[in-house]
Amino acid sequence: MNHSRITGVGHYVPEKKVTNFDLEKVMDTSDEWIRERTGIKERRFFDPEKDTVGNMGARASGIALERAGVDVKEVDFIVFATISPDYFFPGSGVIMQRELGLQGIGALDIRNACSGFIYALSIADQYIKTGMYKKILVIGAEIQSSALELNTRGRNVSVIFGDGAGAVLLEPTEEPEKGILSTHLHADGNFAEELYVKDPGSSRKERLTNEMLEGPTIRAYMNGNLVFKHAIVRFTEVIMEALQNNNRTKEDIDLLIPHQANLRISNFLREKLKLDKEKVYNNIMRYGNTTGASIPIALSEAWQEGKVKENDLVCLAAFGSGFTWASALIRW
Ligand code: ACO
Repeated sequence: MNHSRITGVGHYVPEKKVTNFDLEKVMDTSDEWIRERTGIKERRFFDPEKDTVGNMGARASGIALERAGVDVKEVDFIVFATISPDYFFPGSGVIMQRELGLQGIGALDIRNACSGFIYALSIADQYIKTGMYKKILVIGAEIQSSALELNTRGRNVSVIFGDGAGAVLLEPTEEPEKGILSTHLHADGNFAEELYVKDPGSSRKERLTNEMLEGPTIRAYMNGNLVFKHAIVRFTEVIMEALQNNNRTKEDIDLLIPHQANLRISNFLREKLKLDKEKVYNNIMRYGNTTGASIPIALSEAWQEGKVKENDLVCLAAFGSGFTWASALIRW
């Protein structure tokens, strides 16, 4: 059976930078509060004239393809992770497919929030292993800023999130020790309402009412303290699961790329696993939390900075809404 290997990485973030000082002007918050609690200094907000979730995914994919030296026409499948699709339906995978001129090939949307990219990678990995597809684009792309309530009422959530897209190209490799060694996916729906956007939803008499538009239920609700407590446990568990599954120890990790939820979570993990500072990649300072896009953006930046090298053992790990959590262990 073939293994799958990431042969190209790319990311795209919108040009508009929004600093904590910009947020201070529209809500009762402070740069100090945001930096201390989350590590974030600035994030990117999309340009409604130019950016869509689908076309940001296409731009990130174009870079991944170029770096892999693969022509776009060779791509035979798309797995697109987002919880902020351009439309209620269809998903953004088909929008990106249209942008890339790839009409006819399959496009699958995944909506597992912050864990979405690893879920998407795991699915693509299975298709490569069975030989069904040979060149799969796996994307995480999000526009969160249009859902944020940029005022004091919404500050506990709105200071955290940002927009962006990242992509990888997955191809088969015959080298048994290279590529995606394993992926591990988990969920616990008992916590579905602890980090969610309630409305509009289908199981209501009416999906969207004027009352909803004026209330808080169309915005993200987050039980921040509970999310924090579960995140640190599940992140650790799922990283250890990936290592044990491959007879590796935490000392073998060359680079851990955790979902960029919060710098405090990432630092907690680093201390718990006793990893050196340079072995944990963080870019939340520059982009905030971009949910499903955070891991591929971070992977692409780390690669650009020369922090992901041939033969390195790279661990991706995520936790988020659902709750869902996941990991992937990769020999680069
Ligand atoms: N600016 C200033 N003050 C604020 C802000 C803000 N943006 N937001 C909330 N506050 C105030 C609150 O109103 C509260 O005031 P009070 O004490 O007068 O009531 C005070 O700050 C403390 O609020 P908490 O919500 O308890 O703040 P906490 O210290 O828990 O930090 C945070 C909030 C950063 C979200 C924290 O709960 C956390 O780290 N949670 C982890 C979850 C997480 O990181 N989620 C990210 C997205 S989910 C994911 O990707 C998995």
